[in-house]
Amino acid sequence: MLSPRFIHASGEGRAAGPALAAEAAAGLLAQPAQVSPKFFYDALGSRLFDAITELPEYTPTRSEAALMARHGPAIIDAVLAATGSAPVLVDLGAGSCAKAARLFSSLQPRRYVAVDISADYLQAALQALQREHPAVEMVGLELDFSAALELPAGLADDGPALVFYPGSSIGNFSADQALRLLRQARAASRGGALLIGVDLVKPAAVLEPAYDDALGVTAAFNLNLLRHLNRLLGSNFDPRGWQHVALFNEAASRIEMYLQARHSVDVVWPGGRRHFGAGERIHTENSAKWRPEDFEALLLQAGWRGVRRWTDMPPGFAVFVAAA
Ligand code: AVJ
Repeated sequence: MLSPRFIHASGEGRAAGPALAAEAAAGLLAQPAQVSPKFFYDALGSRLFDAITELPEYTPTRSEAALMARHGPAIIDAVLAATGSAPVLVDLGAGSCAKAARLFSSLQPRRYVAVDISADYLQAALQALQREHPAVEMVGLELDFSAALELPAGLADDGPALVFYPGSSIGNFSADQALRLLRQARAASRGGALLIGVDLVKPAAVLEPAYDDALGVTAAFNLNLLRHLNRLLGSNFDPRGWQHVALFNEAASRIEMYLQARHSVDVVWPGGRRHFGAGERIHTENSAKWRPEDFEALLLQAGWRGVRRWTDMPPGFAVFVAAA
């Protein structure tokens, strides 16, 4: 039986921590304050996100799973037509590796490269997956691909790869950033394919509760970012002083999440401080909602060809396959 390999691509022997702390501090000092949604995903944040996917208000995860189950054979046919048999499987934001694991029996990947900003979660998941698939080479790659998707040599440069980016995580990026990532994904695929899930535009009355649920799980997910910043930066945020805000920006076609100060507060950390007035906000997430034809146009602009699309009814979610 093979055993998974782990690579930390954040810098030559350097931990990602200091660079991430500097990035978070710069965001807190920006006008208006903003912190990247990648800071949601510490151990508790990852679990809170898993809880969100179980909420009745939050449909993308279930919609995508239903599409993958219903159209699985056609989707895999489209992928293999582009990659040839036994592609390398590159999983962006792999987390628990559960979605990629469901592709293994039909895709028969030659190698599985699980990419995530945090390797903590990956370690256990990859070890369990390796026991189920003892002959598949598995690599865990700790990489912040929102900065740049560049795979270390030897991982996906020996034949076509399928780049798998499920869950509409692409929604965290602006159209410009998404275009750049889709171009980098095409280069990383080495003449292979892309399989990507994208949440679609819906009425605000449907979208807003999905990001401001009755149980307050999304509020806890958003507020947990402050605890993560306290650990990363040594800051003194008190989550009780902040309120979760989620609204659909119709013109920009995206959900925007904020943390809003309940009263005026001075936040301090080693090397920095910031005053927040009552009602002042920290922008923590954008979650873009696409029209299918607009996302298809973006794929073509990024150089992908032969785009195929599967949507549910009423269209709430889309799965796309494209060839490099
Ligand atoms: C993981 C980025 C796809 O935008 O729907 C869920 C994150 N934020 N609820 C999304 C999220 C609040 C999620 N993505």
